[in-house]
Amino acid sequence: MADEPLVLGIETSCDETGVGIVRGHTLLADAVASSVDEHARYGGVVPEVASRAHLEAMVPTVQRALKDAGVAASDLDGIAVTAGPGLAGALLVGVSAAKAYAYALGKPLYGVNHLASHICVDQLEHGALPEPTMALLVSGGHSSLLLAPDITSDVRPLGSTIDDAAGEAFDKVARVLGLGFPGGPAVDRHAREGDPRAIAFPRGLTGARDPLYDFSFSGLKTAVARWVEARRRDGQDVPVADVAASFQEAVVDVLTRKAIRACKDNGVDHLMIGGGVAANSRLRSLAQERCEDAGILLRVPRPKLCTDNGAMVAALGAEMVARGRAASTLDLPADSSLPVTEVSVPGHTHEHGHVSAHGHGHPHDHDHVHELSKDNLYG
Ligand code: KG4
Ligand code: ZN
Repeated sequence: MADEPLVLGIETSCDETGVGIVRGHTLLADAVASSVDEHARYGGVVPEVASRAHLEAMVPTVQRALKDAGVAASDLDGIAVTAGPGLAGALLVGVSAAKAYAYALGKPLYGVNHLASHICVDQLEHGALPEPTMALLVSGGHSSLLLAPDITSDVRPLGSTIDDAAGEAFDKVARVLGLGFPGGPAVDRHAREGDPRAIAFPRGLTGARDPLYDFSFSGLKTAVARWVEARRRDGQDVPVADVAASFQEAVVDVLTRKAIRACKDNGVDHLMIGGGVAANSRLRSLAQERCEDAGILLRVPRPKLCTDNGAMVAALGAEMVARGRAASTLDLPADSSLPVTEVSVPGHTHEHGHVSAHGHGHPHDHDHVHELSKDNLYG
């Protein structure tokens, strides 16, 4: 289907330099260079180190993606880039690179939301998203239940974490257990050998009077730390696998329970799970079990598409092109705290302001968006 939009996506919101290329819903390349090893000794991502690593990895990663996809840059229908949320300096590198490619190649530029991209990526795995889509978004910085009538223009938060994100809790518990950084994959691995019922850790915000769709993981994280400290104080060994399994069970129990409740309350018969924590093996299996029991169809992308990558940005960009959404102007800013409701960022001088629910122009009407970008640049 050669008439589907061919889009290159650039992701630099954290420590992965991701460049993906898609044609419509088809994944052609997913090149990722990570600076994770450079951060490991600090126990967390160091923004300055991440920014410099993006700067060095950007062009080689773009070249690798083009080679993997077997396409020429001149064939692209657009360049999409994460405009936020994320680390400010890291975002600036990706946005600057995207502008340079868009300008040099004469292609429209699409500044998109990282969180909406985590949802849209599932189109590469399971085809067109249903409308509305119910999504559980669980990453290092966010944990939310989102209802998206249109992933290119209308994403509505039903609830979110009131303190730590799910991935953040995984990372902090991993530190307490001495499992290194990043913690999610290590906790997942150790938990496989442990008993999820060994320790009854608290399930945050699950009381009768608690908000239905909000999450809280800070109390759980503290409970795990106290439990581990008490064992150490008593001179006893810490059963790492049991602690990891019991902690993980508390997180995924609450996530899946609330997500299924949201589906039922809103009459939605499927659930999409996205973001780095969606790579968690227990979250995937428990969600599958509970969705089957509830008659809900589960959609979770393969783990490599759950953690940060450029293909997810390309997937959202391609959907924007396919729906004739307006491109961003070349004064597109990076917004480190871009709200989840802003699926795309038009740029300061955009004549239409924010993208409307109906969009404008026609699919593949690229001349129109070219002009917008160039006017802006020269004017
Ligand atoms: O989406 P992502 O790659 O980056 C952000 O946008 O934050 O998510 C990263 C988060 C980290 O907290 C990491 O520990 C967590 O996802 N993560 C996992 C797993 N793989 C990554 N958490 C639990 N189990 C995993 N297998
Ligand atoms: Zn992410």
